[in-house]
Amino acid sequence: MRRRLIAVLVGVVVLVLAVQDLPLVGHLRVVERDRLVTRLERDAFILAGRVEEDLESGTVAENAVLLGLVERYEVSEDVSVVVTDTQALAVLGPDFDTGEDFSNRPEILEALAGRPETGERDSVTLGGRLFYVAVPVLSGDAVVGAVRITAPTSRVDEEVADRLWGLGLVVAISVAIAAFAALVMAWTVTRPLARLSESAARLAGGSLTERAPEGEGPSEVRSLARRFNLMAEQIELLVARQRAFAGTASHQLRTPLTALRIRLESLAASSEGAAADPEIAEHIDEAIAETDRLHRMIEGLLSLTRAEEAGLAPVTVDLAVVAAERVDYWAPLAEERGVELRLSIEGSAIALAVAGSIEQMIDNLIDNALDVAPAGSELLVEVANARDRIELRIIDEGPGLSEADREMAFDRFWRAPGATPGGSGLGLAIVRQLAESAGGTARLDAASTGGVAAVVVLRRP
Ligand SMILES: Nc1ncnc2c1ncn2[C@@H]1O[C@H](COP(=O)(O)OP(=O)(O)OP(=O)(O)O)[C@@H](O)[C@H]1O
Ligand SMILES: [Mg+2]
Repeated sequence: MRRRLIAVLVGVVVLVLAVQDLPLVGHLRVVERDRLVTRLERDAFILAGRVEEDLESGTVAENAVLLGLVERYEVSEDVSVVVTDTQALAVLGPDFDTGEDFSNRPEILEALAGRPETGERDSVTLGGRLFYVAVPVLSGDAVVGAVRITAPTSRVDEEVADRLWGLGLVVAISVAIAAFAALVMAWTVTRPLARLSESAARLAGGSLTERAPEGEGPSEVRSLARRFNLMAEQIELLVARQRAFAGTASHQLRTPLTALRIRLESLAASSEGAAADPEIAEHIDEAIAETDRLHRMIEGLLSLTRAEEAGLAPVTVDLAVVAAERVDYWAPLAEERGVELRLSIEGSAIALAVAGSIEQMIDNLIDNALDVAPAGSELLVEVANARDRIELRIIDEGPGLSEADREMAFDRFWRAPGATPGGSGLGLAIVRQLAESAGGTARLDAASTGGVAAVVVLRRP
């Protein structure tokens, strides 16, 4: 963005200068030529005034002052001067012989006819192109001679080249100023914008406490930063409120639920209640099972809220150690169901995880797998070390899930039709929330065994 801005600004300046200056170069040559010719004409008339008397008296050649004057003028102006009499024969001219015939020069003939003449032509004597100015020397109305001044046309080219150098310098300075201005603009505008964009990315990434610097850049950017911060504050507040509500609601539900369970239990134990009628006893048992389910659901919701709040403070955990410990814990239940619970670890596997979350994730995943694993099948708990991450895989030989269901299983309260009764549908949602809170991911894959491979990927510290 910064480089593009500089390129655009410099490009625009170069374009404007080109559009403005290119026609100027052509125009410059015309102007310089006119200037030179006008000056030569003026000088020729002045010289004509000075030689008039000497021409009349035929004493031009003797006038040493006049000769000196012309010689100095020729050197200082880089021109060539000749004065002729009415016969077009040279009487004064440091570059020519006295008496040299100029009657074959049309401009001299014009001047002797009383008409000043200026122009440009090729010269055999001087070589190359030249400008000429020829004026008559007048005494009253009579023409007594002619003065001609010539200058090489390269004089004009030199003048134009000088001007072009000046113009080039102006162009270079303008481009440099434009580049500098672009650099300053880029610095003051794009830098704070880039910071703002980084803040927005961090906020989007879940860092709700992220705020943009408000005092940088032009006022529009500062006002944008202020509005961004207001928005971030609102989002943080809303999320906090929502979490607080879910947490409090779940918490508040626990007490009446426990009370309800105690009442149901005492009803089941009392002689007038359950003992009297087996049908009533069955109803009461079902009601107790429902309160247990409700209880698990509330615990699950509380875990989810806690996992969301745990936010961005993961700790380092050895996944291999925790996996081994949880496999020991689940072994008796697996055995009871006739499932072979197997552990595969390769040394230590240090990962970043929310404190206490690995146990919770492994428990949820083994619980799910044991629900579907048929007797005689194998249930593998595997911890694998990759270069930049640690993978936990729990692979069962159960019926598996379709691809769509494997993603849907992470939705809160989703349970596959015909799933073992008693679950709340929150286990996988909790697993994913805990994994993501530590910068990891959780997914269900189709296992080669036909069952499901639940995969949790965590970052290395
Ligand atoms: N390994 C698996 N094989 C087949 N289906 C599975 C497996 N794991 C999960 N599921 C399906 O995904 C659903 C959602 O799982 P989840 O763990 O979120 O909830 P749950 O086990 O039903 O309840 P909870 O874990 O809250 O007690 C399950 O009901 C089940 O239908
Ligand atoms: Mg579950």
